[in-house]
Amino acid sequence: MMKTFSLLFISVAFLLLNSNGSCAQTNASPKDTTDRKWWKEAIVYQLYPRSFKDNDGDGIGDLKGIIAKLDYIKSLGVDVVWLNPIYSSPNDDNGYDVSDYRNIMKDFGTMADFDAMLKGMHARGLKLVMDLVVNHSSDEHEWFKQSRSSRTNPYREYYHWWNAEKGKPPYRYSLFDVHHDAWRYDSLTNAYYLHYFSRKQPDLNWENPKLRHEVYDIMKFWADKGIDGFRLDAFQFAAKDTTFPAFPNGFEKDFTRFYGMQGNLHGYLQEMNQQVLSKYNVMSVAEGAGNTFEDAHNLVDADRNELNMAYAFDGVGIAKREGYSLLHLKQVFTKWDSAFAAKGWLSIFLANHDQARLVSRFGNDSPEFRAVSSKMLTTFLMTMRGTPYYYNGDELGMTNAGFTKIEDYRDVQTLNEYQRQKELGADMQKYLQQIAFESRDNGRTPFQWNNTANGGFTTGKPWIGVNTNYKTINAASQEKDPNSTLNYFRKVVKLRKDNLVLVYGKYTLLDASNPDTYAYTREWNGKKLLILLNFRDKKATTQTGIDVGKATVLIGNYNNPSKNGTLMPYEAIVYELK
Ligand code: NOJ
Repeated sequence: MMKTFSLLFISVAFLLLNSNGSCAQTNASPKDTTDRKWWKEAIVYQLYPRSFKDNDGDGIGDLKGIIAKLDYIKSLGVDVVWLNPIYSSPNDDNGYDVSDYRNIMKDFGTMADFDAMLKGMHARGLKLVMDLVVNHSSDEHEWFKQSRSSRTNPYREYYHWWNAEKGKPPYRYSLFDVHHDAWRYDSLTNAYYLHYFSRKQPDLNWENPKLRHEVYDIMKFWADKGIDGFRLDAFQFAAKDTTFPAFPNGFEKDFTRFYGMQGNLHGYLQEMNQQVLSKYNVMSVAEGAGNTFEDAHNLVDADRNELNMAYAFDGVGIAKREGYSLLHLKQVFTKWDSAFAAKGWLSIFLANHDQARLVSRFGNDSPEFRAVSSKMLTTFLMTMRGTPYYYNGDELGMTNAGFTKIEDYRDVQTLNEYQRQKELGADMQKYLQQIAFESRDNGRTPFQWNNTANGGFTTGKPWIGVNTNYKTINAASQEKDPNSTLNYFRKVVKLRKDNLVLVYGKYTLLDASNPDTYAYTREWNGKKLLILLNFRDKKATTQTGIDVGKATVLIGNYNNPSKNGTLMPYEAIVYELK
């Protein structure tokens, strides 16, 4: 069930937790982590354009819709917008299958709209990070059309082909394919092509210098337009051993170990850095951080001239339908923090467009606790070391979609897995229950702007159902309520922006074995903050050994914050210690 999806993210987690954490810290200079950079101090707001705001009434969010909401984004206090792919695409995977890297998807608008959007962002002091999807393209990209047309076409080597007279190539696992088979036979040239994701997402051949330089040119095209960064989609998988050796049986359970950080990946990143990244004031972030802390350091340490940061999946992968262990969550975040305490830089996140909703997975989306647990999770994300990535809609405490039938879903992975489970004769009711908790579509329902039809997202028919709770959970009503999750988000964002200790400060876990509460301090330049979080729906006591008698409460999600270490359900408090 949904193994494809979980496997991608969870196998990385598994590997990391089982690595001995050897990290390249021997030459660590403390300056590395505390060296001030705008991208370390930034708060990134991730915007899913398809579901944010529809301007033209076709039921699909668009760039003009984003432009109409720039003041809203600015009002949040965030600094950077990470926009999911907006390039031309047949939308097999909602834009992660690009057919033209220098054009805008018709559903989303035109290049003139893009230019206006970027201008509007910059005018408001917002920066823009674009998704760079270059582990694969769409099979409808001109490169692939050429590549598949004949074995001697100059674009043949832009992709990975295996001539069928050699027999079937050694098995490769595909995350989204109905049969999880990453080799697709193409009769036109009697050969198989490789696709780690769907059949319509053939993998690009990074071993080919021509392809690499095409990508650098594309990056320059966007950087010259003035964008402020790139998020490198699935890039840890880009380099391959093109002899395609057989992998051990069952490798797919740990496939990141076989796919991640292979061959000359670091060489390619250094080349990309030298050709593009170093020439612009742009930030760069990799999706995925490899298999070990050493891998992650190799990606992001400043002296290696590759990327600025990466995000690892162990944290986000923890939440399960049956619940999750807070001890595990604390262990993961603490391990990662300590591995990067002196060198390198991390991203902090618990949700994105590949996950079900933050509050439904890590908090409690019942009417009683939804708001308070959302606020607690926001407090957590904004008080950790690393650059926070915050997903649109979570500031409202938007919840899982509540879909009950397969026709409600749109996600290629969810639908292909449904077909596969059906072919296997699986219990389809059980599958539906599973996806109701974890399908990516839970995080992709339209943004809930107000209580009018379709939550104010569109005047047309939305491309995916709007959550029926839009009448009670929406931005307009939360604007009016000073205690709303939205207004709390703004306050906690401001708290981070006003307190560099929350960006650079040393993190120390307290009361580590407490299964209900998460307590830690952040310290920097003589300032010390204490953060207390209760992850349970009942009161919980934490023993930090710190006297908060004289401390100042900087923020809390209850009107009268607890004073004696016994926290109310899902309570969050940030103290400044004297
Ligand atoms: C990771 C992206 O976040 C996800 O949405 C996409 O399906 C895969 N990469 C493939 O591009």
